[in-house]
Amino acid sequence: MNKIPILMDCDPGHDDAIAIILALSSEKLNVLGITTACGNQTIEKTTKNAQGICEFLGRRDIPIAKGRNAPLLTPVYTAGIAHGESGLDGPKLPEPKAPLQEESAVVFLAKKLAESTEPVVLVPTGPLTNIATLILCYPQLIPKIDKIVLMGGSVVSGCSGRGASEFNIMVDPYAADIVYTSGIPIVMMGLDVTNFTTIGFDEKEKFRNAGRVGTLVADLTDYFGRGFEMVGWCGVPIHDACTIAYLIDSSLFTMKEMNVRIDLNGEFTMGSTVGDYYGVEGQETNALVGLASDRERFVNLLLEACAGYEKGERSNE
Ligand code: RIB
Ligand code: CA
Repeated sequence: MNKIPILMDCDPGHDDAIAIILALSSEKLNVLGITTACGNQTIEKTTKNAQGICEFLGRRDIPIAKGRNAPLLTPVYTAGIAHGESGLDGPKLPEPKAPLQEESAVVFLAKKLAESTEPVVLVPTGPLTNIATLILCYPQLIPKIDKIVLMGGSVVSGCSGRGASEFNIMVDPYAADIVYTSGIPIVMMGLDVTNFTTIGFDEKEKFRNAGRVGTLVADLTDYFGRGFEMVGWCGVPIHDACTIAYLIDSSLFTMKEMNVRIDLNGEFTMGSTVGDYYGVEGQETNALVGLASDRERFVNLLLEACAGYEKGERSNE
């Protein structure tokens, strides 16, 4: 079966880590590499976390390149309150042994796109700084990008605590604007779907019983879920893994084509994603937006992925 070539750009981050776990387990995906973004934590920390996850999974073969250390124009804004001081508080990950790529994330992404014999899917699950820089610096490589399947934004509700915007878009709204106006097809997994694509607090035991990777997912969910449990949610939204789950099985999601623009001027809505849900603005559609998911099937997909590591456990040796 032809695997889908993907490049992940992430800011681990607990849910980014689960997205990496799911991606590296799938027979349908060929992960050409992982680049890191400054988002949930500083670039140093998100990069170390991406390395730690791959080390834990026995995947020193996955090339990792470090991204830009700040958004394009706005100040660094991290989310230690959600992901902890390290950006991946809670579980203990092994010290990474594999070195980072020499080149920066953007140069690495460009190299992989140029090398690929077929268009590649970009899967950003943090602020879009690296992706926007790639588009600006290497316009000749845009035809090598099949689509961008991103976690970010919302056409209904925000989460950043800064009004109506979602964290990934809010942190680097100018980068998001470059991506959303690039003409590259976008699949947008925003909060409208990711907030409801959860691991239930009562489902964590299932993951603990699914081996060492399942236990890691349960530990990640334990830490990341603290805030959600406090405010009465019944589960932990695994935002970023929705991108990978979509690539593995798009039937898990209900999607709608629409035009989505980034608000760059609103005093209280800066960084929000404005979706023309009913198509009344007459703008070209630029995004396929996730609106709903089959949560149970999503959880089963994650459980299968964790169990799969037990069968095909890869060692670093
Ligand atoms: O709003 C959720 C997004 O912000 C996720 O990507 C999470 O990892 C944080 O980056
Ligand atoms: Ca993220």
